[in-house]
Amino acid sequence: MSDDLKIALYPGSFDPFTNGHLDLVQRASKIFDRVIITIAVNSKKETLFTGEEREQQILNAVKDQPWSSQIVVEQFTGLLIDFAAKKKASVLLRGVRQISDFEYEFQMALTNRRLSPELDTVFMMPDENHAITSSSIVKEVAKWGGDVSSFVPPNIHTKILEKYKSK
Ligand code: PNS
Repeated sequence: MSDDLKIALYPGSFDPFTNGHLDLVQRASKIFDRVIITIAVNSKKETLFTGEEREQQILNAVKDQPWSSQIVVEQFTGLLIDFAAKKKASVLLRGVRQISDFEYEFQMALTNRRLSPELDTVFMMPDENHAITSSSIVKEVAKWGGDVSSFVPPNIHTKILEKYKSK
């Protein structure tokens, strides 16, 4: 990988990956040469989907997009700043939907900067249609049989339906 590529790491739990995440990746692909969607896999955290399942779902959700060649999907455990260094990423990318997101994001960005001063966090806003979309809300609605098809890419909707049917 060439050193002059602008590489952004887009970290998150992505449990599941939503249309808001997809929107953000699309926007980021116009700014950065490569966007590494970085799935935090923490064995102690209970998730709906395994790291492997989330990786496959995200790959399938982006594969037919015209900008898909710029996207890489990886799982990681440990400190984000270490993973960013390993991947030669100069930017951490986070989505901010509303003001209430900002307190947590601000703390996380400044912690990461304290740990790695060269690494900057860039905040981007998804389309306002996604301002209320979150992975937690998707799980909450889907758990009780609500329709989440407008919140997630179609391939992930199918996986959510399968998952709750088998629970
Ligand atoms: O989608 P999420 O759950 O809001 O993502 C949070 C995530 C995974 C980005 C954050 O928990 C994280 O960076 N975890 C890795 C551990 C780490 O580096 N922590 C220091 C940042 S405060």
